[in-house]
Amino acid sequence: MTTVRWGIVGTGAIAHGVAGDFQFVPGAELTAVASRTWAKARDFAAEHQVPKAFGSYRELLDSPDIDVVYIATPHPQHRDVALAAIERGKAVLVEKAFTATLAGARQVVDAARAKGVFAMEAMWTRFLPVIAAAREVVAWGRIGDVVGVQGDLYAFREYQPDHRLFSRELGGGAILDLGVYPINVAQAFLGEVKEIDCRARLYPSGVERAATVNLVHAGEGLSSLTFGFDGYGPGRLIVVGTKGWIEIEPRFHHPSMITVHRNGVLPRIIEAMPTGRGYSHEFAEVTQRIREGATESPTMPLSDTLEVMRVLEKCLRQSGVTHQEAAVDLG
Ligand SMILES: NC(=O)c1ccc[n+]([C@@H]2O[C@H](COP(=O)([O-])OP(=O)(O)OC[C@H]3O[C@@H](n4cnc5c(N)ncnc54)[C@H](OP(=O)(O)O)[C@@H]3O)[C@@H](O)[C@H]2O)c1
Repeated sequence: MTTVRWGIVGTGAIAHGVAGDFQFVPGAELTAVASRTWAKARDFAAEHQVPKAFGSYRELLDSPDIDVVYIATPHPQHRDVALAAIERGKAVLVEKAFTATLAGARQVVDAARAKGVFAMEAMWTRFLPVIAAAREVVAWGRIGDVVGVQGDLYAFREYQPDHRLFSRELGGGAILDLGVYPINVAQAFLGEVKEIDCRARLYPSGVERAATVNLVHAGEGLSSLTFGFDGYGPGRLIVVGTKGWIEIEPRFHHPSMITVHRNGVLPRIIEAMPTGRGYSHEFAEVTQRIREGATESPTMPLSDTLEVMRVLEKCLRQSGVTHQEAAVDLG
């Protein structure tokens, strides 16, 4: 395979946000876009110079010209689109949160493994150059053993009950939309979680305005994470070690700088700008892995996605919130 041909499903905010980044990915081509509404697909294709537009998801999924499907629908609509793509032998890159439920995530992972196709959660943060640098700093032992992660992800949004972020039906709430980021970072640095304590405050729509989570990881690491739509915060995160700490400079989910602090040594700043808007790095990973014939990314493996989904679901339960996967009409 020379060029990996990408198709986008869903023409909302993030689909528009990422489209321009394909130009920075060697070996990738953004070939098609699909919407439930033909005019939206046509306009998206015109705006982002995408060669093909489809007025239904099914047409894109059935197209022999697509190798990998980037799924940019709301969380409860991820599962069905992913399963339909996998059934047709297509690779999938599924936006975060991977699904609305842990059961839905397991279905997608099982289907991808059974079919032998590539699947990954679009957790772009893990692929950013300074996050890769932070992993190296840890691997070299510069901050000793990692024993904790602390951070916030406040992203103020005015409450609009019908918007996806606040609608229970569309999988809204701070836990799946924001919490997925710090929990993902904590899982990346500290691994499996054995105890979860989550407290949230809710909107009248029944989803979380904000939540705070304390995690005890299998190796006794401790994470303390807070996130929400109803306040402002820096989006700071630190990785705590026995010999120092790494500050992932705000906003930590798309940083361009980290500072390594070590006892008795001047802080060391590492800077690396993301290419494009920062999504190019996850697209490059998927493109490269598909070309190699791999079915998973070692940087964002499906086992990590399932572990993060398990934490998210437990956190939702403790907050009194349940979500469901939605049936998607492929058109
Ligand atoms: N990585 C990031 O930085 C980032 C940022 C924002 C969002 N996201 C993730 O991306 C996903 C989409 O978020 P978004 O902000 O782009 O949402 P959005 O603006 O609401 O767009 C979602 C799109 O999904 C399609 N869709 C399919 N079924 C739908 C339904 N029942 N109701 C509404 N839309 C439906 C629609 O496209 P058509 O009408 O064209 O079919 C819609 O435009 C979420 O999972 C979110 O967490 C990731």
